Formats: sequence, C-alpha cells, structure tokens
Amino acid sequence: MPAERTLHVSESNVDVIVFPDAAAAVRSAAERIARIVAESVAARGKAVLGLATGATPEKVYDDLAARVRAGTLSFRDVTTYNLDEYYPIQPVDPRSYRSYMQRFLFDRVDLAPNRAHVLDGTVPEAATAAHAAEFDRWIDADGGLDLQLLGIGRNGHIGFNEPSELAVEAFASQPTRVVGLHPITKTDAIREFGSLEAVIPRALTMGVRQILAARTILMLATGPHKAPIVARALKGPLTANVPASLLRTVADKVVWLVDEPAAAELG
Ligand code: F6R
Repeated sequence: MPAERTLHVSESNVDVIVFPDAAAAVRSAAERIARIVAESVAARGKAVLGLATGATPEKVYDDLAARVRAGTLSFRDVTTYNLDEYYPIQPVDPRSYRSYMQRFLFDRVDLAPNRAHVLDGTVPEAATAAHAAEFDRWIDADGGLDLQLLGIGRNGHIGFNEPSELAVEAFASQPTRVVGLHPITKTDAIREFGSLEAVIPRALTMGVRQILAARTILMLATGPHKAPIVARALKGPLTANVPASLLRTVADKVVWLVDEPAAAELG
C-alpha cells in the first residue's frame, strides 16, 4: 500500500494529506487525537476535545477505544464538547447524537460523565438560546478547544452550520444556536431516521466562532461522495455558502485528512 502524500491546492494555498484509503485516514486521525490528548495533558493537566458524530468518525472512536483498552490512552483528564444535537430529541433516543456518542465512545472509555458534553435536545424551547450561550461559556471557561474533529456535509456544512447568505465575517462569528437543517442534510439524515418525513428538521449546533477558535482542527473526509464538496471548499470561492471554505481563514491550524476517493477532484 503506498504511503500518504501531501497535495498542495494552489487555489487556496492549502496542503491536504491524502491517504490510499479511509482506514489509513482514520488511523491518522486517531493517532493525532491521542497525541494532542497526551501533549495537552502534559502541558496543562487537561485536554479539551470538540467531537463530531456521523458515519466518518465511527471508526476513529473504535480506534480510540482500542487504545484505551490497550492502556496507551486515557480520557481521565479529558473534557469533550460535541458539535451538535437534533432539537428536540431525548438523549435516550437511539437517533440522538448523545446516544451515538455513548455507543461509539463514552461508554467505552474512562471519561467522567460530567465532562462529556452534548448539547441538550430536551431544553424548553424558550431556553434554547440560554443553553446555547451556556455551552459556549463552558468551552471558553475550559480554555477553549485543544482540538476540533470535523466531518464535512455534502453541502459543505461543518457541525450543523448550514450554507448561508451571510458575509464571511458575520458567519465566522456566529455562536452556538438553534438552526434549521438544509435539504441536503435532511436527505442524508434518512440514514438515521429511516425516511425524510421522520427527520427532525432542527438542531442545536456549535457556532463557527467556536470551531474556528480551536487550537487544532482535524477535518476528516472519506469516500467518493465527498469529492465534489471537498473540491468546492478548497478550490471554490471563500463563502458562507460553503461553510467549510471558512477553514481557509485559519489554514495554519487545520489538518485536512482525506482519502484518495474524496481527493479525486482536487488534482
Ligand atoms: C456531525 C456533524 C456533521 C457531519 C457531516 C458529515 O456531528 O457535525 O457536520 O460531520 O454531516 O457526516 P458523515 O460523516 O456522516 O458524512
């Protein structure tokens, strides 16, 4: 199997690490997360991670759980904040991102329950803004995110920050909040909900401000269905209409981990 290669995207002046297959990209993501945990804990006694759900990171969490079982990684000094959650939804609902995180990571590692934060899909409607603001305050009080793990939606969303007509600066400063889901996001959520009608059309999402403030951002994109949007994010205009293109504004701390099929339109 050939090794990874670095591909320079001249349109955005961004380097992308391209792996022969998804498994190699996943392994690299898990290795980097484990390293950042070790370095942050050594430097300041704790690590604060921003985590994603979806199909892409499932195997990253398998890898991290295996490291914990093997005794080479611990979440004892880790605090996590997830990107998003459907709204409204019960945490015990198997389609909630809280359930996903319990299944794929939290129940398998030594992470304290009061340090594994997922936005709460049960807060009263009138309290969503206060809850979202509180979530941002918790992250800020924790010293910000050492790492944010991201996937990319087929419409370019990061978290559930959906394509927008806002100016780049206004979009980049958006806080955590309630959003309506984009038609492409709803279509892709059929995987979890079974039908378009069943998809919960709103969500709470960490805002772009908090994502871009993370000290390291890992963007993991795998599979041929991600090739067009990866190319738009890196070769197209810098615009809130393609939310992931805003990662170019903080390019020095973003690591793009992409497999060959997802990199197909970058060359
Ligand atoms: C999930 C999230 C989303 C996903 C994106 C890609 O917490 O915030 O932005 O990362 O929709 O999803 P998958 O990995 O299922 O293709």
